[in-house]
Amino acid sequence: MVGVNRPGLRVALLRHLAEHRGVKAAAHQLVITPSAQSAIELIARTIVDQGDTAWLESPGYGGARAAFEAVGARILGVGLDDRGLSIAKRIDRPRLIFVTPSHQYPTGRLMPVSRRQELLGFAASAGAVIIEDDYDSEFHYDGRPVASLQGLDRGNTVFYVGTLSKSTFADIRVGYAIVPESLVTIFERAQRHGGQIVAASVQDALADFINEGYLAQHIRKMVRLYRARRDRLVQTLKAAAGDRLEVMPPAGGMQLLAYLRAHDDDRTITTRLAEAGVTVRPLSRHFVGEAAGQGLFLGFAAWNEREIDAGADVIGRIISTPADAASKRSSRPVPAGRVGKAPSRRSRRRSNRHAGA
Ligand SMILES: Cc1ncc(COP(=O)(O)O)c(C=O)c1O
Repeated sequence: MVGVNRPGLRVALLRHLAEHRGVKAAAHQLVITPSAQSAIELIARTIVDQGDTAWLESPGYGGARAAFEAVGARILGVGLDDRGLSIAKRIDRPRLIFVTPSHQYPTGRLMPVSRRQELLGFAASAGAVIIEDDYDSEFHYDGRPVASLQGLDRGNTVFYVGTLSKSTFADIRVGYAIVPESLVTIFERAQRHGGQIVAASVQDALADFINEGYLAQHIRKMVRLYRARRDRLVQTLKAAAGDRLEVMPPAGGMQLLAYLRAHDDDRTITTRLAEAGVTVRPLSRHFVGEAAGQGLFLGFAAWNEREIDAGADVIGRIISTPADAASKRSSRPVPAGRVGKAPSRRSRRRSNRHAGA
């Protein structure tokens, strides 16, 4: 039987992850998938039975929710405190817990080692497995990153998931999962039956890319660039929006969350921003159940300084103009000789990029 996960990429990627993220595994535990999302789906399909309870961070990652719903899981949103997923006082017993501990999506919070230990202890006592989604943790701007939850696990409870679409480029479509030793054979079979397989030529090219030092070099270069872009966005947003936005500078990653004042509606503001050519995501959409906050979630990694300044300017202008004033203004007849301007192709392109990174 020809292996679907190429040994060369398994060894190279694992060495990279051990060095940068502190994972501890043997090469045969690494499953190479067409994306992180498909790795999450593979785990959900293999581990979860209809009616099992899955815990999700709230706010959290909608892609995970979709994967668990598709296999009939009962979704429970678990709130966050300042150390991440808040597990104190929980009496329910989940089958699966999905977390983004190194850069919580979308708040950017870091789960400290003490909470990681508590979470591992809780999962072991509840008989639950944990999916650790480490989607962008190679990009760290301040201080040293905390090593992965997987590396701390002594009980075979953690599935570690990551993606190369952020550390290389979005179209590469390669993700991976480290599965517990006891489940390696089951996962190889499930992966093959589900067709979640990456072309051997792509796997081999990536192995060379990593072995020859290009991946580490690229990440070092991007960390410098993205740090400067993060700082620029923080600075320009603060200047453009003042106290109407509470900007949370992220310690890593490619996106930034800015809280709106409680009575502002992030979906309305998001729609108005889209009309002005800037795409952001509303925080409220990321909650399981009722939204407990309003905010704007925006990418900075794909934008140069000029584009960041222009985007921040639009955001500042829109959130300083109440929606009713803006709609009155736009429904006024256009004075003779003035024509409305459709968004340029360039601004439409920009809005697409904001949606991604
Ligand atoms: C938190 C989180 N996890 C996983 C993914 C999926 O990554 P991939 O593009 O490899 O499916 C994303 C994509 O943006 C993400 O934001």
